[in-house]
Amino acid sequence: MLNKKQKLTMKLQRFLYYIYGEKFYKQLNYNWSKYPTRSHIINELISLKKYNSFLEIGCDKNVNFSNVLISKKIGVDPNSGGTHKMTSDVFFRDNKEKFDLIFIDGLHETNQVDRDIENSLKFINEGGTILLHDCLPKKIWHQIVPCIYPKWNGDVWKSIVKSRTRNDIDTYTIVADHGIGAIFKKENKNVLNLSGEKLKKLKYKDYYEYHSKFMNLISVEQFFDIAKQV
Ligand SMILES: C[S@@+](CC[C@H](N)C(=O)[O-])C[C@H]1O[C@@H](n2cnc3c(N)ncnc32)[C@H](O)[C@@H]1O
Repeated sequence: MLNKKQKLTMKLQRFLYYIYGEKFYKQLNYNWSKYPTRSHIINELISLKKYNSFLEIGCDKNVNFSNVLISKKIGVDPNSGGTHKMTSDVFFRDNKEKFDLIFIDGLHETNQVDRDIENSLKFINEGGTILLHDCLPKKIWHQIVPCIYPKWNGDVWKSIVKSRTRNDIDTYTIVADHGIGAIFKKENKNVLNLSGEKLKKLKYKDYYEYHSKFMNLISVEQFFDIAKQV
């Protein structure tokens, strides 16, 4: 028997499913506390590749930014943290510098993430790496745009799926810390074959069913093996 609060939650969910045009209950089972954090992976990568420069898009309270150990770092956020108080679009418009490592963690909406990826590809050094946070939402609510849920990943995952269909960049998703996308500026030997029409209509259900293939999932260890060879 459902209590009053549970009944109300179900009513609200039904309403939201109606508004967002997708009804889906299943969820992925990742326990992120069992995996290394984004800061750990970033610092290991810096040390492995002997990187000297780091750019973070979206810094918030500098939880990651302050932990990154590197000689030169820039953080961009229109609201808080980092070194440059502005949006990523404004930063990239005026920027002249290149970076060894770029961490995209700003506005988690796919059109913005697409622009952040495109701009990062212009400003990444040869042999550099682009990482993206929040690529593996566990529930439909974690990725609904606009944000209605406290643990929000947004639909960054859609930008990863789009990147996977390009043959000029090689894209993976590391299973750690809410999913960390990794993009290398090199030929993609495992291109995802999805039509433009299908890409435009991607639903959480597609992601749930095919996320291993769509996102090109790899472990942290596999990521470092791949990064060594770039
Ligand atoms: C999830 S938080 C970043 C967390 C941080 N990277 C970390 O690892 O602790 C997202 C941040 O992106 C910022 N943001 C929102 N829109 C942005 C934009 N257009 N350009 C850059 N940052 C943006 C927000 O102000 C917020 O602080």
